Amino acid sequence: MSVHSGPAAASPVAVIILAAGEGKRMKSSRSKLLHEIAGHSMLSYAVTAATEVQPEHIVVVVGHLRDQVEAHLAEIAPHVLIAVQDQQLGTGHAVQVALGQLADLDGDVIVTYGDVPMLAGETLAALLEEHRARQAVVTVLTAEVPDPTGYGRVLRDGDGMVSGIVEHRDADDLQRQISEINSGIYVFDGASLKAALAELAPTNDQGELYLSDVPAAVRRVGKPVAALLIDDPWQTEGVNDRIQLSRMNAEANRRILHRWMREGVTVVDPATTWVHASVDLALDVILLPGTSLEGATSVAAGARIGPDTTLIDVEVGENAVVTRTQASLSVIGPGANVGPFAYLRPGTTLGAGGKIGTFVEAKNARIGAGAKAPHLSYLGDAVIGEGANIGAGVIFANYDGVRKSTTTVGAYAFVGSNSVLAAPVEVADGAYIAAGSTITGDVGPGDLGVSRSRQRNVPGWVARKRAGTRTARAAEAALEQKEPS
Ligand code: UD1
Ligand code: CA
Repeated sequence: MSVHSGPAAASPVAVIILAAGEGKRMKSSRSKLLHEIAGHSMLSYAVTAATEVQPEHIVVVVGHLRDQVEAHLAEIAPHVLIAVQDQQLGTGHAVQVALGQLADLDGDVIVTYGDVPMLAGETLAALLEEHRARQAVVTVLTAEVPDPTGYGRVLRDGDGMVSGIVEHRDADDLQRQISEINSGIYVFDGASLKAALAELAPTNDQGELYLSDVPAAVRRVGKPVAALLIDDPWQTEGVNDRIQLSRMNAEANRRILHRWMREGVTVVDPATTWVHASVDLALDVILLPGTSLEGATSVAAGARIGPDTTLIDVEVGENAVVTRTQASLSVIGPGANVGPFAYLRPGTTLGAGGKIGTFVEAKNARIGAGAKAPHLSYLGDAVIGEGANIGAGVIFANYDGVRKSTTTVGAYAFVGSNSVLAAPVEVADGAYIAAGSTITGDVGPGDLGVSRSRQRNVPGWVARKRAGTRTARAAEAALEQKEPS
């Protein structure tokens, strides 16, 4: 066993994350480890937990669909070392492969899994602490589960010390009645682990090298094995199929919502509200049913979101109200009002107190404080000044079939209903656009832009062309009332 001294005593030499298995039951062309819980890959949680115990190295053992896994790791955790296990010859073999990446084994080595997303860094720290307090050579994390079928069972001797682990398929009836299971998560003394792995034999039902055989091997040479029983079995649970994936997602979401409710967020219907782990909420935020907050979304104090709203990477200001809206990569200012039925695409920023209303789509649109587009509009590639009013049905025609251009509407400008602003065009501060105009040229400050044909009425047209219809009779009656004969 290594002797630790000084500040480095707290850090293990390595955390090894096993992630080479096939994950057949997911029935996916995507690596199982890249499937997500609360918006992040399962593997990313394993890496985060490992990082939290500040090891000198993290080694991820990859195999099946390794290109995908390695590409993902390069993105989220470029600091990890990769060990390739070409053939999955067992968990013991996987750890052997990982040790090949480590020059120095003088210290503690932790083993975890890429598909056990709820395991907390704190739990690894507690396991490490137990390991050191017991001066053990192996410390295994165990759990009591209602149905231990399939798991390795923890065997204890007369003194209660762990004497070994027997896999379910190799266990006898009596051993199968043991409800304390091996989580598969351990701390090992590095040098002892290496020595024990070298002695392993595939003398089991699967013909694999079992990492779970190491505790018994260590005991045979008279060294101590400890165990830490966790009271939160979710943390040791792996995900093997999409049913477990959905259950785990529901549990992760439940925990995230509970945390926010304890922090002063109202969640009206936790069953239909989904909040990613990366989301940030503030005091007195209200989440109405059917709300999904994803990615780097943040919601400031007092804002009300939902019902039926999805925000992906959206920043919502204080006291804003966002109703029945789909938005991504956008900023909604304090006190602003969005929806119902709004669609905010990337690059939309709505200023303080502004409004994007019903059946309005915005994209790459910078909308000033207090500006309003309340009804039925498309705001594409727009710069809209403070306090401007965009009437019902106004279209920012940003695309001429070849390129996209920007339309600018100045401060306190008024764009009449059903107008088309054909980009590039500029409507200056304090300008007006008459309803129903198609604007293709700039409009100066304080000017009125009108672009539509003058109205012409044809007297008596209905009586001549639609005689005998109900319309014609309605017209007759109205005319009679006007000038009784
Ligand atoms: C393992 C333990 C068992 C424990 C259970 C907890 C062994 C032999 N058994 O069983 O005691 O109760 O975990 O979930 O260790 N892997 C590799 N390379 C391999 C084999 C496996 O990377 O060659 C990875 C897999 O991707 C998987 C993990 O290790 O994530 C577990 O392997 P698996 O063979 O499924 O072991 P279990 O049957 O789950
Ligand atoms: Ca497994």
